[in-house]
Amino acid sequence: MKKILVSTGGGDCPGLNAVIRGIVKASQHDKEEYEVWGSIEAFNGILEVPARLVRLDNAAVAGIHVKGGTIIRTTNRGNPLKFPTQQEDGSWTTIDRTQELIDKIKAAGFDAVISIGGDGSQKISKALFDNGLNVIGVPKTIDNDLSATDYTFGFNTAVQITTDSFDKLVTTAESHNRVMIMEVMGRDAGWIALHTAIAGGAEICLIPELPYHFNKVVDAINERYNGGTGFVNVVIAEGAKAINGTVTGKAAKDAGDDHIKLGGVGNLLRAQLESSGVEAQIRTTILGHTQRGGTPIAFDRILASAMGTRAFEMVKNQEFGKMVALRNNDLIAVSLAEATDTYNTVSLDHYLLKTARSLGTAFCD
Ligand code: F6P
Repeated sequence: MKKILVSTGGGDCPGLNAVIRGIVKASQHDKEEYEVWGSIEAFNGILEVPARLVRLDNAAVAGIHVKGGTIIRTTNRGNPLKFPTQQEDGSWTTIDRTQELIDKIKAAGFDAVISIGGDGSQKISKALFDNGLNVIGVPKTIDNDLSATDYTFGFNTAVQITTDSFDKLVTTAESHNRVMIMEVMGRDAGWIALHTAIAGGAEICLIPELPYHFNKVVDAINERYNGGTGFVNVVIAEGAKAINGTVTGKAAKDAGDDHIKLGGVGNLLRAQLESSGVEAQIRTTILGHTQRGGTPIAFDRILASAMGTRAFEMVKNQEFGKMVALRNNDLIAVSLAEATDTYNTVSLDHYLLKTARSLGTAFCD
């Protein structure tokens, strides 16, 4: 009997449950005997005393591939390398609990760990592997910002959600001859915004990779608004910024969460446009966490299921220290070192950037 521990870490995303189901189903159909367990809330479940673990068998995963979120929960306050800890005076600090985590996983009899998460979680996977744990990574994030894989699961569902919302904003923009600004997630990568711009037909798309000239945004709006006869739909990535500007957001409040909480650039742009004398009425919509919730589209269910079954195969083949990746329509194993080496942003010669420009979308760069 072999034991596998599964963890979902960082922000949730559609498809996590399909990966879990894929791992469990593949293990149950194997000739050897496997037991799969989930650590509740990333690795916090196994660090806690008593440990919070849940047995993942066929009954536990039946039908969950359709469900959003993760049945084993997640957290962005569970990095073992920088674990949030309250001090005697009530203030918070972070401590390194990596070795303790590894010891606890081994003492509980686990032969392998499958860590499902984004770039932050895969950096943790790498650190655990470097310290002697048998780890396999599975890439998740709506941001699609892991360079080793063509797609992370969850991304295409997020793009479907943003596109559906964008379509709705187009008809109301047209009815009122308004400017509609829609802010989407994606952190420092413009993938969600770029895909939405093409799918929805945005007049203006602002992404982190191409800092924008504010005056060009004004000109593009005025030209299309055409004295009140036209309307404009703008998609702006939460990490977008003006040339010589900074990103809009707040520092995270929780110890152990290093990420700036991006958000608000859509409202900032609207305020700046209004005070610059743009005549059109402007409205902003911030989609926020709706982009991460709900049921995964078929593409993501399939990709996530395939990645789950492949991750199990990698455990069987002892391909530790590697992450499943989609490359050229095939699933391969890449080293965690390679997987965490480069952040995947929109390259300036990317075919989709060229596509959007050819379709007439202004990036105002
Ligand atoms: O990484 C996924 C993501 O949804 C980003 O697009 C966004 O910036 C961030 O997580 C939001 O994080 P939180 O859920 O902690 O607010």
